[in-house]
Amino acid sequence: MRPGGQVVVFPSKTAGSSSSSYVPPPPPTPQKITAGRRRFVRFLVGVGALLSLAPYVPWGTFLSKSVSAGKGYVRQQITVDNLSEYHAAAGRKVNVNDLTTFPPNSHWVITYPTSDDLALDTQNKDTFVKFELIRLPTELGGDAKDATAFVAFSKVCVHLWCSPNYNPDQPTNPNENGYKPNQSKHEQYECPCHGSIYKVPQGLAIDGPASFQAPPTNAIPMLTLSTDSNGFLMVEKPLWDVNHNGVLGYGRYVQQ
Ligand code: FES
Repeated sequence: MRPGGQVVVFPSKTAGSSSSSYVPPPPPTPQKITAGRRRFVRFLVGVGALLSLAPYVPWGTFLSKSVSAGKGYVRQQITVDNLSEYHAAAGRKVNVNDLTTFPPNSHWVITYPTSDDLALDTQNKDTFVKFELIRLPTELGGDAKDATAFVAFSKVCVHLWCSPNYNPDQPTNPNENGYKPNQSKHEQYECPCHGSIYKVPQGLAIDGPASFQAPPTNAIPMLTLSTDSNGFLMVEKPLWDVNHNGVLGYGRYVQQ
């Protein structure tokens, strides 16, 4: 009983109770269910739309700030990552005059910017600081004893961010995705995920999904190279915009 003397009856229903005062809440109406589903579907469509834009966002612009743990984007000497598969070149500074350790039509992964700790750089799995250093095949000038003999492509594909590799050989077989390589080309930079192929030395996608993307999202970013007075290969401080070195994970304008 309330203070005013009013009697309050609480609904109750227990097992075996014969009380008929309990009124269960009404089930949701079809309109309410439909509205709820509609909101959920709208939410999924929104998330899908955002994800579809992911490859076109210049994430590299933001991610590049994370490299401040290293020396930062300054002019640096190039050292090959210390991987045993690189044999004599492993952990070595690259000298353009050394055609034995760094022969034409060869490739190595390098870290830029470097932390100056070779072990740390080699173990670093952040592909946004990894580049494929390629000494060009002889027919493309790879025997020149200057920086023009080399290119350094980003290891982040501009399609969906897998890591391409240089293929020094003539590709012959379709990969498991059914992709048929362009038989008239070889010595290309190839992405294993969906078959994008970048032409060497320009870095323009000539096949696969990246080649269907609009400029500048159809070319791989790359470093500008030079040498010091002793012939050691250097990375010039990059300009991370689409008109220069490109934006990592996004693309670069290429003169065609
Ligand atoms: S991520 Fe390289 S082709 Fe798709």
